[in-house]
Amino acid sequence: MDDVVGVVGAGTMGNGIAQVAARAGYNVIMNDVRDEFLDRGLSAIDKSLQRDVDKERLDAASKQAIIGRIRRTTDFGVLKEASFVVEAVVEDLGVKTQVFKMLDEVTPSHAILASNTSSISITKLAAATKRPDKVIGMHFMNPVPVMKLVEVIRGMATSDETYERVRTLSEQLGKTALDCQDSPGFVSNRVLMPMINEAVFALYEGVASRESIDGIMKLGMNHPMGPLTLADFIGLDVCLAIMNVLYEGLGDPKYRPCPLLKRYVDAGWLGRKSGRGFYEY
Ligand code: 3HC
Repeated sequence: MDDVVGVVGAGTMGNGIAQVAARAGYNVIMNDVRDEFLDRGLSAIDKSLQRDVDKERLDAASKQAIIGRIRRTTDFGVLKEASFVVEAVVEDLGVKTQVFKMLDEVTPSHAILASNTSSISITKLAAATKRPDKVIGMHFMNPVPVMKLVEVIRGMATSDETYERVRTLSEQLGKTALDCQDSPGFVSNRVLMPMINEAVFALYEGVASRESIDGIMKLGMNHPMGPLTLADFIGLDVCLAIMNVLYEGLGDPKYRPCPLLKRYVDAGWLGRKSGRGFYEY
């Protein structure tokens, strides 16, 4: 494939996106600010692909070829070669706005600039560039290699052509693209996060133990993970940040984050990544 896919940010989502793009045959530029972040990202990709090698769904040579298509760099300027860029940096409006300004300067004028944001306004990010018609949301789900959805978010100025190019790209990555308008939390987190928040309220109010809450939702609703386990998997800081976006953006008290969620985040109990959340890891 001629198109080069750039990924800014080598964290959980960024390295997952780089992996699926390289596996689909794209040459990928994975950018981050420090070599150690890139190394960590590559080691996550290696581990994830190795699962498929162990299950004999991928041969070792193909795994190496996929990894070989991922060029790692701390030099942002290299992204000038990319015709698609997916930004997956920290969930912070200021940082993301700065990245979009820089991408607008560095990448060719035809390049599509997508954000993997879970809740920040695409319209706001687009306004930081001189090509708002080519700015769009591509919201991948964790774990990226497994989850089939890409939620595609159209900003105020996103063109139909940009949407079509992103839909085609998503299909090439083995995903299904489903679109929505730019509204706080989009669809995925507007529906998911209040459920998680409600599970935290149930725990806070002593309605049931963490195991019962999760078990009821797993066995009763056929969810792969209970809501508290899922919150630990996503990161409690991320869940809280998204609840705040819903609360402030929609102005409805029904989105009030549970005080217990805030308390866990204050304590640094952020879920799996910190070794403790609603469960201990
Ligand atoms: N890389 C590659 N493959 C992986 C993987 C990874 N990181 N993690 C799991 N897998 C694969 C396994 O190899 C296995 O494949 P197989 O069934 O084909 O052999 C399959 O996924 C299932 O994995 P496991 O058997 O190890 O474990 P589980 O059956 O418990 O599944 C799970 C793990 C896929 C994570 C499942 O629990 C799940 O779907 N959980 C819910 C995930 C979810 O809701 N994600 C969305 C979060 S919200 C979000 O991302 C949006 C953000 O904005 C907040």
